[in-house]
Amino acid sequence: MALPEAEHIWFDGKLVAWKDATVHVLTHSLHYGNAVFEGVRAYQTPKGLAIFKLQEHTKRLFESAKACCLEIPYSEEQINEAHVNLLKSNTYNDNVYIRPLVFLGYGKMGVSHIGCPVNTIIAAWQWGAYMGEEALQNGIKVKIASWMKPAPFSMMAKAKASANYFNSQMANYEAQLAGCDEALLLDPQGFVAEGSGECFFIVKDGVIITPANDTSLVSITQKTVIQIAEDLGYKVLRQRITRDEAYTADEAFFTGTAAEVTPISNIDGRVIGTGKRGKVATELQNAYFDVVMGKNPKYEKFLTYIN
Ligand SMILES: Cc1ncc(COP(=O)(O)O)c(C=O)c1O
Repeated sequence: MALPEAEHIWFDGKLVAWKDATVHVLTHSLHYGNAVFEGVRAYQTPKGLAIFKLQEHTKRLFESAKACCLEIPYSEEQINEAHVNLLKSNTYNDNVYIRPLVFLGYGKMGVSHIGCPVNTIIAAWQWGAYMGEEALQNGIKVKIASWMKPAPFSMMAKAKASANYFNSQMANYEAQLAGCDEALLLDPQGFVAEGSGECFFIVKDGVIITPANDTSLVSITQKTVIQIAEDLGYKVLRQRITRDEAYTADEAFFTGTAAEVTPISNIDGRVIGTGKRGKVATELQNAYFDVVMGKNPKYEKFLTYIN
């Protein structure tokens, strides 16, 4: 499906026309895979378009870059400002997905990235539900991947590094070939790590459980959903989840900036709960949308308004 293009992309400090935001085929990251990025969303709120948790996303972008030895030639404040200026320069009638990317550019070949120029872009386009509205309503079918999350001594899962998404992509592809919507990846010890682009939650006997971020991204939505759940009076545990605990959960759902709160109806052919969006997932999904869409004053501090 074609991307809904906007007018401008922020490219190394300048707003350029969407079609002119291009790179050379010998761009280093294209060959050797070292790049870091963010996935951010801006929602239409009663007070206009607002970016959710912009500062946290930018902080994570800088931490990912540090872990991957990429020096971003801007400050966090400049990157935050660039997001706002980009969104102001474009016309949006709906919610927006924002993709900052830091990559190694043109000028050097070979594995070593030392001395390679670093480029930074921010693109933003109108984007609806990651897996479609139907997924948010009725839940998705999930397959546990034959691919495992790399051990912490192989890759750095806490960094939102492009290289990590090869593993995610293969797992997601395998799930789709098997007629499912998304993959769930296990860690090297066999416990649930995360989805290909989401965090995993279960509900058992009224308690909400989600794993620690030992082999997964330090997720901004997971933190938000935990805070919302605790505010609603739920007990939330950060602990390991086994495969059979996932199969026998009363409810399961994914969270993420892109996936928002997506219920899971089936894992490896086992119907989860009633096979429909569960009571807790429904409550958290509604509350999450209220928060990001500026309808809950307690969380308004997380919004950066564009106008
Ligand atoms: C692998 C992976 N895990 C978890 C998440 C959820 O992270 P966040 O809530 O910060 O978007 C994402 C999405 O960004 C992801 O790509």
